[in-house]
Amino acid sequence: MDVYEALYTTRAMRRVRTDPIPAQVQARILDAAIRAPSGGNTQNWRFILVDDPDVRALLGPLYRDCMAQLWSGGYRERLERARATPDDPASASFLRVQRSAQHLADHFEDVPLFLMAFARNDDSGSSIFPAIWSAQLAARAEGVGSTLTTVLGSFKRAETFTILGVPADRGWEMAACVCFGYPTGRWGVAARRPAHEVAYRNTWGTDVGMNIPEPLWTDATASSVLSPADPASER
Ligand SMILES: Cc1cc2nc3c(=O)[nH]c(=O)nc-3n(C[C@H](O)[C@H](O)[C@H](O)COP(=O)(O)O)c2cc1C
Repeated sequence: MDVYEALYTTRAMRRVRTDPIPAQVQARILDAAIRAPSGGNTQNWRFILVDDPDVRALLGPLYRDCMAQLWSGGYRERLERARATPDDPASASFLRVQRSAQHLADHFEDVPLFLMAFARNDDSGSSIFPAIWSAQLAARAEGVGSTLTTVLGSFKRAETFTILGVPADRGWEMAACVCFGYPTGRWGVAARRPAHEVAYRNTWGTDVGMNIPEPLWTDATASSVLSPADPASER
């Protein structure tokens, strides 16, 4: 796959099939991930691939608790505002993400594979997130959808460490739990604020000198439908 296709179409794919991810595909994802850079090439990371249904069954209720905390805590006002103005495009977009995120929570134990990423001495996460994103890009190349999640480490760190047998006293922090599965929906170019609206040239606030109203990468394959019944907006 063209690298730009992977970069443009790797999005949060939260609706996935239960089919297992073959071991050789898992190996390619993991091996691509650990090629990523880390500060000083310290590679101060560990990964746990989780596909055991018993372990996933323990994680499901925990993840749902985390998402419930998110909706009733940090996202409460935003959610209430969106629900009060559902026709506003920003509200509609937020509500689509919320429904999609809740769908993942409701079916968490059905996700066939998780990649748990742990880092040490990396408060900013700058040495672990390149590897995490590489794993997601590699998965895209394999036709495997992924969603980066962080709530388990944020809200249920101790419980998650216990379930996974992670030593609690050696400085490891959980950076992310990436969910992997073959998507039921279709791939598409990620909708983002255009580059020229978020970039400057030479000094802060100075026009970047380019106007990019539409994504520079497009390809008919990006919209090839895997399942017409599952709208892209509800991934
Ligand atoms: C640091 C980080 C944490 C995230 N945590 C969660 C999460 O806990 N649950 C979830 O469903 N999605 C999570 N996401 C996915 C984002 O919601 C998603 O990337 C964003 O809405 C853009 O989606 P799109 O690429 O499909 O347009 C997270 C993404 C990032 C980068």
